[in-house]
Amino acid sequence: MSEASDLGDLTIGEDPGTGEQTAAPVRALVTRMHRQKPYELGFPTNLAFDLSDAGILLSTLTNNAGDPAHSDTADISTKPMERAVIAWFTELAGGDPDGTYGYVTGSGSEGILFGLHTGRRRLPRAPLYASAEAHYSVRKAAGLLRMELVEVACRADGGMDPDALYAACRTRRRRDALTGRRPRGAVVVATVGTTMRGAVDDLPALRAASAPAGPVHVHSDAALGGLLAAFSPARPAWGLGQGADSLSVSGHKLVGCPVPCGVVLTPDRYVSPVPVGAYLGTDDHTLGCSRSGLAAALLWMRLRRLGTSGVRDLVHRCRRTAVYARTALERAGARPERLPEAIAVTFDRPPRDVVDRWHLATQGDRAHLVAMPHVTPEAVDALCRDLTAASR
Ligand SMILES: Cc1ncc(COP(=O)(O)O)c(C=O)c1O
Repeated sequence: MSEASDLGDLTIGEDPGTGEQTAAPVRALVTRMHRQKPYELGFPTNLAFDLSDAGILLSTLTNNAGDPAHSDTADISTKPMERAVIAWFTELAGGDPDGTYGYVTGSGSEGILFGLHTGRRRLPRAPLYASAEAHYSVRKAAGLLRMELVEVACRADGGMDPDALYAACRTRRRRDALTGRRPRGAVVVATVGTTMRGAVDDLPALRAASAPAGPVHVHSDAALGGLLAAFSPARPAWGLGQGADSLSVSGHKLVGCPVPCGVVLTPDRYVSPVPVGAYLGTDDHTLGCSRSGLAAALLWMRLRRLGTSGVRDLVHRCRRTAVYARTALERAGARPERLPEAIAVTFDRPPRDVVDRWHLATQGDRAHLVAMPHVTPEAVDALCRDLTAASR
């Protein structure tokens, strides 16, 4: 995005500004973002929605402080909607409707931190095992939680290699046994849809492979791939009913939402029996205290309007576009690769001006597009024309 200069003077001065002085730059910024939308091919966020009729939510503070299951003393929350969102995700993820804890997070990354914190509480001495392709938030969480991070090699498709995980767990267990220590266990991150290629870790295989470590907590990082997995013909394991002990999803990715958000779930029995938050008049097992009631309400609005069938349709539409993109990129000579069922398509990294114009994500000598709902075949064709022109 270009400089702020065309937005006028944004400095907060001594004197109060007028409504128009704040509305005009916001309008200009939003207009610019709308113009840019057709070119946003590289990032896994759904931009095909309009919740501008939710503006009334901006007329009040909505603070979902503490757990969604309890109203709090302040009672200025959107917790009833949050509970509906959590119930929908719990059912989809195969969780026990009466025994699953969850809340709407600020992002997928917060959900990873919560899930790994939960694993850390259960298995305080366990190392964290994650693949080299795991999202960088996992490394941040390991640092914050002061967990030993063991990076596990990937298979050719970018999924974690269960044999490598088995070897890593066994090595550590043997080392501990030599010093007479009890099994420390393993906290394992299964990535359900790696960021660059959309590779899906084989969750049951990872669970089995980590058995030599002793007790295991598997966190499913299903930021984008959880909903894709739920509605894919192959139905790869991603949920609580399929071997995950906690899972996190981004709300603004596939579903699309005007603010970043996410959902985290884990069985009730894994959350601390000693909640805090007494002064709010509610239990609080979340990572913070105040949480965005706006995010929960907007995510609820998106899901309520789509319905389960609408989310399923979105997934199918994304897959059709990804198939189209692979063929078009092949024709353009960009050497595309698409994993089965993935909506990410990687291809040879084009020159800088093409990367910038189409907001492509890059890694080494490859770039990718993600066929999110706002990505059209026409946009893919236009990208391919640019790629062809750039290779001449
Ligand atoms: C696999 C994976 N996990 C986690 C995240 C982080 O999610 P968020 O951006 O919602 O924090 C991403 C973001 O792209 C991701 O691709």
